[in-house]
Amino acid sequence: MSRPFVFINMSMSADGKIASSDRKLTTFGSRADHDRLLELRAKSDAILTGAGTLNAQPDITLSPGKNRSHGPLRVIVSGSGRINLKHKIFHTSGSPIVVLVNKGVSRKRLKELKTLTDTVYSSGVNEVNFKKAFDFLSMKYKAKRILCEGGGKLNDSLIRANLVDEINLTICPLILGGKDAPTIADGIGFDNLVQTARFKLHSHEEVGKEIFLTYRAIKSPKVR
Ligand SMILES: NC(=O)c1ccc[n+]([C@@H]2O[C@H](COP(=O)([O-])OP(=O)(O)OC[C@H]3O[C@@H](n4cnc5c(N)ncnc54)[C@H](OP(=O)(O)O)[C@@H]3O)[C@@H](O)[C@H]2O)c1
Repeated sequence: MSRPFVFINMSMSADGKIASSDRKLTTFGSRADHDRLLELRAKSDAILTGAGTLNAQPDITLSPGKNRSHGPLRVIVSGSGRINLKHKIFHTSGSPIVVLVNKGVSRKRLKELKTLTDTVYSSGVNEVNFKKAFDFLSMKYKAKRILCEGGGKLNDSLIRANLVDEINLTICPLILGGKDAPTIADGIGFDNLVQTARFKLHSHEEVGKEIFLTYRAIKSPKVR
């Protein structure tokens, strides 16, 4: 079985930040940036987002945008399963919701999550096992193209697992600054240059005051 194509989309400031350090400033891209996000959603079978992003963005519903009745599967990653069950996403109709959690989440929490979602899939002990989880999404939901919309910790997990095929970045003309402001790949990262994930520039486009970049992964044949 072939693995789904995994692509990330993020907007970032010119200093590489994806939100302000208080995590409250979440939208700073232009209309064109948002339209591009909707275009990418339209090309995906599933959209992935991390629990940190849900917490920071109370209005996020991962909807496909106007004029589209069927949206991609909505997938939330929360190893701990500790997501705000009152979040708008659980109370907005649309495509099915799947939650990916670590093994060891309490039965009570699993039950609570199951009442609000289509599926809760457990894998991995300290981290979700994304290879297994993506196989599951591919088999059960026919998810062949998975769009990851961040945030930084989730992106880092997928990049370290060597699962990211493409990164779409919008560089926006502002500086957010601050050592605590999140970047496109926070979390654990790589210890040294030899281990880093490598990408090559596939395309670039200047639109208004922003630049859209697409990178494609250079995969090590040994790992794949
Ligand atoms: N500019 C943009 O394009 C953009 C896009 C998205 C988000 N953002 C911003 O980014 C910030 C959030 O980023 P973030 O890095 O704090 O959070 P995040 O990546 O959205 O979510 C992190 C959480 O996801 C779960 N998770 C991630 N990887 C996991 C793994 N391998 N195994 C198990 N669970 C995993 C964990 O949840 P548990 O703690 O429940 O275990 C973790 O705490 C917000 O400010 C948001 O607004 C910006």
